[in-house]
Amino acid sequence: MPNIVLIGFMGTGKTTVGNGVSRILGMEFVDTDQEVEKVTGLTIREIFQKYGETRFRSEETAAAKRLAKLDHVVISTGGGLVLNPENLEALAETGIVIALWADPDTIYNRVSHRNTRPLLLQENPRQVIADLLHQRKHLYRRAQFNIDTSSLTLEQVIDKVIEIYHKEVAQNGNAKS
Ligand code: S3P
Repeated sequence: MPNIVLIGFMGTGKTTVGNGVSRILGMEFVDTDQEVEKVTGLTIREIFQKYGETRFRSEETAAAKRLAKLDHVVISTGGGLVLNPENLEALAETGIVIALWADPDTIYNRVSHRNTRPLLLQENPRQVIADLLHQRKHLYRRAQFNIDTSSLTLEQVIDKVIEIYHKEVAQNGNAKS
């Protein structure tokens, strides 16, 4: 059975939505950031601080390729996973790829109370969000499906993901497994 792969910018709800979907569908939940933290024994913030972004990106690619080999799991990804096209190619081979979207202000409001995201630990995080989102949006558009979460509740986003999944499985069966 195919996986469900959630991509999108930081703060679009990938992890929370992925967890909810996995619970309802009885599928295992995995997350590329959590996989990187497990393998390295470090938090994302520590990896950036000690070794820099390049090292994080290579761990992220290794994690994406490992998780792509799993079957019938929900995979949430880090917001920058799309920067290396190999990552999405691997995940799309075995999964239905859904991009979660939100506007920059919504993202800022959702992430501003946390300091776990190294890329936003800068003077003007609101501007960094707008700039990075602008730079990356063509990459998120490579997803098969898109959901704008800005004015939806968590439950509504979860329902939409499940609806997409059921439709795809009904149409294509196990094609992606
Ligand atoms: C990043 C997003 C983060 C994490 C890292 C880099 C990015 O994941 O992978 O801080 O480049 O957008 P979330 O999207 O889960 O916050």
